[in-house]
Amino acid sequence: MATILSGRQVSRKIYQEISEQISRFGQKRPRLVLYCSHPDNSTQAYMKSILKQGEKLNIPVQVVEASSQPFKDIMRFNNDPGISGVMVMHPLKEVDEDMVIKSISPLKDVEGRGPMNLGGVVIGETSYAPPTAEAVMEILNYYNIPIKGKDVTILGRSTTVGKPLAMLMLKKGVDGTVTVCHSRTKNIDEKARAADILVSAVGKAGFVRKSWVKDGAVVIDVGINFSDGKIVGDTDFDEVREKASAITPVPQGVGLVTTAVLFKHLVESFKRILDGGL
Ligand SMILES: NC(=O)c1ccc[n+]([C@@H]2O[C@H](COP(=O)([O-])OP(=O)(O)OC[C@H]3O[C@@H](n4cnc5c(N)ncnc54)[C@H](OP(=O)(O)O)[C@@H]3O)[C@@H](O)[C@H]2O)c1
Repeated sequence: MATILSGRQVSRKIYQEISEQISRFGQKRPRLVLYCSHPDNSTQAYMKSILKQGEKLNIPVQVVEASSQPFKDIMRFNNDPGISGVMVMHPLKEVDEDMVIKSISPLKDVEGRGPMNLGGVVIGETSYAPPTAEAVMEILNYYNIPIKGKDVTILGRSTTVGKPLAMLMLKKGVDGTVTVCHSRTKNIDEKARAADILVSAVGKAGFVRKSWVKDGAVVIDVGINFSDGKIVGDTDFDEVREKASAITPVPQGVGLVTTAVLFKHLVESFKRILDGGL
């Protein structure tokens, strides 16, 4: 039976480190802006969890409604040294969301969605990786799961999860051997079965079955799906845990760590601004 890789434990460690750093800032605090126009239900749930976590950490999180001039709004945030991070909440209607994201200063792009930060991930330089991709790495590191020389299969090639995660796994020194699958991949079950570490970020409940998992593989389930009124991942958890050596649960897995990584980036940005980065 697989070890459960608890996102709660990993996030607790990250929040502890954040709290220690914040205690050194005296009265000063980073501030996060959630920029939105018509957040959908899942975005609203995400915003709620960020606001709650901000309160716990005593970090102000401000929800700002998009005006008719979003680029001006973002410039204002970029030029305000009191703001450490800006998140554009999906969907931002009536404007090109990608263009708005690109206008966030790379220093304040704590979600690592802009080209500078994504480019940094590709060339292996310090930058903000998308928090979900980084969360997967945090979980593997916390549980001392080796990646070097391992066959890693990632199901899903989105810019926020699959692609940046492949880059983080490929980085020199990390040294995973990575296969990335998508909706046009042939024989995806074979690729999944070849993996020592299998990551699923597809967004389909029950997508990864027991027969897709090699004996003793580590399974990281990024998916968040709703099934019979419950939140579930992409894997058939009860079956897959019999075969895997370790597995993340959903909920209480990658999602909790993603939010923790976001606040970690915010504190890093705050420190860089204090050091004169703006
Ligand atoms: N835990 C967290 O913190 C967190 C954060 C972000 C997202 N998520 C969850 O992770 C999941 C993926 O999110 P995302 O934003 O990456 O989604 P996305 O942008 O929709 O990407 C989904 C990926 O899955 C691939 N895919 C879809 N159907 C497939 C199939 N039948 N066979 C193989 N590949 C298939 C798609 O392939 P194509 O590229 O060919 O279309 C795409 O690359 C969702 O459930 C989301 O809610 C969780």
